[in-house]
Amino acid sequence: MARFTLPRDLYHGKGTLEVLKTLEGKKAMVCVGGGSMKKFGFLDKAVGYLKEAGMEVELFEGIEADPSVETVMRGAEAMLKFEPDWIVAMGGGSPIDAAKAMWIKYEYPEITFEDMCKVFGIPKLRRKAHFCAIPSTSGTATEVTAFSIITDYHKGIKYPIADFEITPDIAIVDPELAETMPQKLTAHTGMDAMTHAIEAYVSTANCDYTDPLAMHAIKMIQKDLVKSYNGDTDARASMHNAQCLAGMAFSNALLGIVHSMAHKTGAAFDDYGAHIIHGAANAMYLPKVIAYNAKNETAAERYAEIADAMKLGGNSVEEKVQLLIAYLRKMNDDLNIPHCIKNYGADSYPCEQGFVPEDVFLERLPEIAKNAIGDACTGSNPRQPSQEEMEKLLKCCYYDTEVDF
Ligand SMILES: NC(=O)c1ccc[n+]([C@@H]2O[C@H](COP(=O)([O-])OP(=O)(O)OC[C@H]3O[C@@H](n4cnc5c(N)ncnc54)[C@H](O)[C@@H]3O)[C@@H](O)[C@H]2O)c1
Ligand SMILES: [Zn+2]
Repeated sequence: MARFTLPRDLYHGKGTLEVLKTLEGKKAMVCVGGGSMKKFGFLDKAVGYLKEAGMEVELFEGIEADPSVETVMRGAEAMLKFEPDWIVAMGGGSPIDAAKAMWIKYEYPEITFEDMCKVFGIPKLRRKAHFCAIPSTSGTATEVTAFSIITDYHKGIKYPIADFEITPDIAIVDPELAETMPQKLTAHTGMDAMTHAIEAYVSTANCDYTDPLAMHAIKMIQKDLVKSYNGDTDARASMHNAQCLAGMAFSNALLGIVHSMAHKTGAAFDDYGAHIIHGAANAMYLPKVIAYNAKNETAAERYAEIADAMKLGGNSVEEKVQLLIAYLRKMNDDLNIPHCIKNYGADSYPCEQGFVPEDVFLERLPEIAKNAIGDACTGSNPRQPSQEEMEKLLKCCYYDTEVDF
């Protein structure tokens, strides 16, 4: 049985944050990240609106980028004490994802992190609280998805929690919140959204309900991402919608191995001083994975359909796939994102020798490849890589070499 699930309500457009005034409930816990929402005044506004709605409000602040299991457990404890009937998460993907996992633990205090990670194994939520998500970045679309990504820093691995139970009840897609994104964040989150749309379109779980969303998102991102990066505010607002459409697609069509590899490399070299930022990892790996997946005939045809929709030209499927790869690489150049891990600096910008040393990468490669194969996103990829293939693919992502297998 196929299922297509989205939030019950989605409010979009400038100023829609105000809809918080209409929530019905007694207590709202507002979950935010490191301070951008407070700094730009959105946190105060949100709290004001919730109070107008007659709610008692408590804050859970300081959720870090790529949130940890420990943060999730702390947040759940705070919720158990305060007993909110609304969880309002605002900010980037990180605080919203963390709040989703806190919500599970709040409703089921006995549940372990391991249990949460069982794909589509979350028990019924909404016995204690409903969930409202308000994104301030234009990429993850976690405000409409059934996913939450939590990092286990002891293992250096990101784990996706996946279940329609954690699809929020309300999403508020207000582009004003994304206006303050710095250039680098705009680039990374935008390429994350592009990867979501492309992976959803070629996923083995794609369907008539997800295809139009994915394809429209791809065309919007092609038109607006670089403009948004260069400061065009209309394009910035359009990207906020585009990423959300991509999210509606991938939440239901699932993803592929670009994400499996991004999840398993992101925190794998933390001891060398940096993360490989999620969106940047996707941007680097996507062209490689397209070349690998295009050996599957159905996938190649679907990439060619994408190239056609983007009006890239080409006379054969192979040519169209190559043009798509070239276009995405050019986008990375325009957005100052490197093409491979070797050239990924600790500041995420391209450089001669990045922060991941070659010998360390090669030593950790077998384990990373094994973990990537086991990632929840691998199952819906058009090709199922063997250990050897995944290692080869990751090497191409390290050295920026041709994928010919
Ligand atoms: N749940 C999903 O479906 C899903 C999908 C893709 C990625 N993810 C996960 O989401 C996380 C990444 O989220 P993200 O890319 O949104 O970034 P993020 O939430 O990690 O935020 C990155 C930084 O940007 C700042 N920031 C956020 N909004 C801002 C704004 N409007 N102006 C200025 N600064 C702002 C934050 O304070 C933070 O320092 C990763 O952990 C990734 O794995 C989740
Ligand atoms: Zn992503």
